[in-house]
Amino acid sequence: MLGHPTAAIDAIHLWNGFYPAKFHLTQGIYERSLCGLPTFRGDLSTAVYSHDQLVGFAIVKESGNELYGRAADHRFHLAGVAWRDPDQGAAMLRDVIDRVAGAGATRLSFGQDSGSAFPGVPVECIELSGVLKKLGFHASEAVVDVEADLADLELENFPNVRALLPNESHLLDEFLAREFPGRWQHDVMLKANTDGAEHCVVGYFVENRLEGMALIQDSAQKLFICGAVWHLSLGEHWAALGPIGVSESQRGAGHGGRLLQGALAELKHRGGRRCRIDWTTLTEFYGKYGFTVSQTYETFDLALRR
Ligand SMILES: CC(C)(COP(=O)(O)OP(=O)(O)OC[C@H]1O[C@@H](n2cnc3c(N)ncnc32)[C@H](O)[C@@H]1OP(=O)(O)O)[C@@H](O)C(=O)NCCC(=O)NCCS
Repeated sequence: MLGHPTAAIDAIHLWNGFYPAKFHLTQGIYERSLCGLPTFRGDLSTAVYSHDQLVGFAIVKESGNELYGRAADHRFHLAGVAWRDPDQGAAMLRDVIDRVAGAGATRLSFGQDSGSAFPGVPVECIELSGVLKKLGFHASEAVVDVEADLADLELENFPNVRALLPNESHLLDEFLAREFPGRWQHDVMLKANTDGAEHCVVGYFVENRLEGMALIQDSAQKLFICGAVWHLSLGEHWAALGPIGVSESQRGAGHGGRLLQGALAELKHRGGRRCRIDWTTLTEFYGKYGFTVSQTYETFDLALRR
């Protein structure tokens, strides 16, 4: 039902009354990032109507692990929820929790889903966090988005940092399977297979071996995930970076900083201005390159008994 285009208009209306303007949904975001990814579970998502009016809905996704041929981790995600009335919302979520537990989940997280619309609950959404706490969700670390205007940054280019070539997608897959299996591998390969790795991935090479990668996104691409989901608040020439990572054995030697600068330089070269790096705790690392905190989230998880 929620994945059906005719449900989108009502869902978007309800959502936009529930979240701050920065997180307002468009039909494109709804269809691509919330209900359109392979991890979307229409059978566990729910819509509640009263007198033919949509009064609440919850979008559930499963972990990307199984879809990517890895062992199931039995973690499910509330990719987004909205309601008219908090008591009705709590009752709806109780029902979702029961059904997700019945489907074998051992953990339900708010956000942190494949494609990651939300890394957690935006701190402004007090009613939402209140209901989650009442239902037994445990709030843990705070995570942030950071932003900068690329026009303000002096960025160096490095010879071993470059956009991937069209025939290098397999190098990316191998690197991710080795260093970042699970959600990152799932999300980055989905994006690379949709938009072409050469358009959305910058690599760090050591003697022709891929030892780091940064996902970069802008309006010329088709699938918007992670920091690009809420791109409307970044203006027309928006840009997004992340995930970014280097091989464990190579960390702490300056490679990550060079990769970051090279990837930002590529976004700037393509005309990018306001740039977001989403879902991080590394404010010091990104701060060195001119990024400041733009949004704070609290992560919420519920442990479920099988
Ligand atoms: C984050 C990451 C890309 C950094 O790469 P790196 O090669 O280790 O970083 P660098 O050696 O280039 O460090 C650049 C600077 O940032 C600092 N820095 C790097 N990682 C940091 C961390 N986790 N916390 C605080 N500062 C950090 C370094 O101290 C260094 O400062 P300096 O120039 O004053 O010495 C790398 O650690 C990584 O892949 N981590 C795992 C994946 C990850 O967490 N990615 C980020 C998700 S938001």
